[in-house]
Formats: sequence, structure tokens, C-alpha cells
Amino acid sequence: MEPPPVRRAVPSLLAPAVERDPHPLYRTLREEHPLLHDEPFGAWLVSRYEDVRAALAEPRLLAPPPGRTLVHQEGATHDAHRALLEPALRGRALAALAPGLERTAYVLARRIAARQEADLVAEFCQWLPAAAVVAALGLPYEETARLQDWCRTGLTHAAGRHPGLDACLRPHIVRRRAHPGADLLSVLCTAEPGGRPLSDEAVTGLVGEVLGAGGEAAALGLASFLANLLDHPGQLELVRERPELIPAAWAESLRRDPPRPVVLRRAVAPVTVAGTPLPPGARVACLIGAAGRDPARFADPDRYDVFRADASRLAGGAGRHACLGADLAALAAERGLRALLEVLPGLRWTPGFRPVPRGLLARAPRLLSIRPR
Ligand code: HEM
Repeated sequence: MEPPPVRRAVPSLLAPAVERDPHPLYRTLREEHPLLHDEPFGAWLVSRYEDVRAALAEPRLLAPPPGRTLVHQEGATHDAHRALLEPALRGRALAALAPGLERTAYVLARRIAARQEADLVAEFCQWLPAAAVVAALGLPYEETARLQDWCRTGLTHAAGRHPGLDACLRPHIVRRRAHPGADLLSVLCTAEPGGRPLSDEAVTGLVGEVLGAGGEAAALGLASFLANLLDHPGQLELVRERPELIPAAWAESLRRDPPRPVVLRRAVAPVTVAGTPLPPGARVACLIGAAGRDPARFADPDRYDVFRADASRLAGGAGRHACLGADLAALAAERGLRALLEVLPGLRWTPGFRPVPRGLLARAPRLLSIRPR
């Protein structure tokens, strides 16, 4: 008689080896366990592209508590708050931010150009998206340094109050309530969703959301984007010669190396995920990082290829909570890369340096050591 097949033990998302490189686990999950309960992590893991997309958009799966940010809101409140933020982060409002973003990108790039060696994470990626969000809010550029730190830690603090941010914003809120302008902070200060103005706390919460969601994810996304291009000098040269390829190069990096590879949900009613019924209370981890490399959706998915025709936008989530800042992040990446390519013609890794992505819920290289000339 044939012995029964040996089932390989599947490591938890929390295993140190998975944090170092989650892709072997993602592959096993996609191929053998499209829905698997991860005991130590405390959630069902969903890994195939179509299942992840469906789970992110599923109305019976909500962002788990605690939290008071937009992703934790549902129904009319969520719609009203989204409708407030959306116009300030898209279209004409976004186009108006481009010149300021470009100036900031050039200032940062020129500072790097003066060095023998630099870390693009500390000196570029952590600044440019933060400056973009600060500009969208209409806060003075000088506040970037103070808010940049909050941007970096925003995702972890977003669940609760943040006295430092409250104190920083209070004078700006008072001023905007008295003399509103066209910026996002003014929009929030003068809005009356449901016929009543937003409280200072609600305004701070929404600003915190934009800073936290925008600052950190966009900084990590930019780090992975630059790492992918520096790792593929042929493709870096291509985008240098044909800058119209930059948006595709950015989308491709978000597919291959999304900065938020794991997004959590909790079932509030019986729900079917990846073909399996789950009870209310079940926690679900939508593995965006696994979905982006699903070979059923993307040919040769591990490869970074700026000519890929079928890039996806899943890195920014899907459905009613899909990312509101995707266009702002793309604009910052595009203007940022153009500035770096122009000001640093010899941009390349420091000899012997290899970027190492880190992090489970928020993932990217934390150091990008380069030679500018
Ligand atoms: C590469 C950059 C970015 C990535 C990868 C990213 C990723 C995401 C993801 C995965 C979600 C969905 C979360 C969920 O469903 O639980 C989301 C939502 C959100 N993002 Fe982004 N984000 C980025 C940049 C930004 C920026 C620059 C801003 C703001 C300026 C922003 C603002 C938001 C907001 C407000 C939401 C909540 C939308 C809602 O709940 O309706 N994001 N983002």
C-alpha cells in the first residue's frame, strides 16, 4: 500500500524566515492552501489574486478594531469622509501640487549629489512623500520635518489619539476655520457632512489618516521602486531615455513589491472566502504581496518588467476602501525619479550593497546605499 502523502508543515506569517522572504510561503499558499488558518497569526490567509481582490471588496469583511480611521468607518460616515478627501487628492487639485513637489524633489536630489555616498531612504524616500502630503493639506513646508516622523509611524499610531499631532494641528485648524483656503485642511475645517461641521478631533483624525496612510506607504513604495530600478540597470536606462515609461515602472514595482503586503479584515456576518464559508468574527489576512505574484494572473510574476502590460492596482486595496492617495503617490514617485535621474547621472548602488526588504505588514528596504556620481 502507498504511504499517505506527507503534508509539509506550513510556517506562520510570524516566522522569522517568512519576514526575511515571504515568497516561498506565498507560493505554497497559492498552490496548495488558497485558504489556510494561521494559528500564531490568528487569521485566515488568502493568497490568490482573485480571492484577495474579492475579500478586500467584500462588504461583510471590515477592518478589525481598534481604530478610528477611514478604513474603520462604513456606510454613510465613510462615504461622506471619502467624498471630502477625494477631490483634494485627485485631478486638478493634484496637478496644482506638481510644481511644488518637483521643486522639493530637485532640492533633495541636489543635496544628495553633493555627497560621495548617500542613503536614498533617509535622504529622499522619507521626505518626498511626506512633503507631498503636507502640501496637499496646505500646511507650511517647514512643518514637514515635524510631521515626517508622524508619517513614518502613522500606521501604528492611527488606531488611537496622537497628542503630538493634535497640538501641531490645533493652530492651523483655528486659522483655517477663520480664513479657509483651497487646501485639504480648509476643506475639512469648513465641511458640514450631515449638516454639522466636523469637530477638531474628527479633522485631526482625518489628517492623521492622510499622513499615516500617505506618508509611510508612499515612502516604502518609493524605496522599493528605486530598489527595483537600481537592481535592473537596463530598465533604469530605459526610463531615463523614455520617461513616459515611469508610470508603468511604478505600477510594476507596486505589483511586485507592494508596501502594504498584508491587509487585515474581520467577518461581521457569515461570509465565503476563497470558496470556503467562514463564521462571523473570523479574521482574514488579504495577502496583497502573494496576489501580486500569482502566476494565474501575471506571467513570470517574480520578474520586474516595466513593459508588463497587465499591471494591477491591488497594492492600493480594492472596493469601497481602495486607496485615495494612489495618484498622489504616483505623482511623487514620477517627479522624484525624474529629479534623481537628471541630477544624479551616475546613480548606482554603492559597490557590494544589496537592498534588503524588511517588515511583515509594511515592507520595503530600510536602507538604499548609493553612489550619486
Ligand atoms: C504607494 C503608496 C500607497 C499604498 C501602497 C497605499 C495602500 C493602501 C491600501 C492597501 C489601502 C486599503 C486599506 C484597507 O482596505 O484596509 C489604502 C487606503 C487608503 N489610503 Fe493609501 N496607499 C498609498 C498611498 C497613499 C497616500 C499618498 C495617501 C494620502 C495622501 C493615502 C491615503 C489612503 C486613505 C485615506 C485610505 C483609506 C480609504 C478608505 O478607507 O476609504 N494612501 N491605501
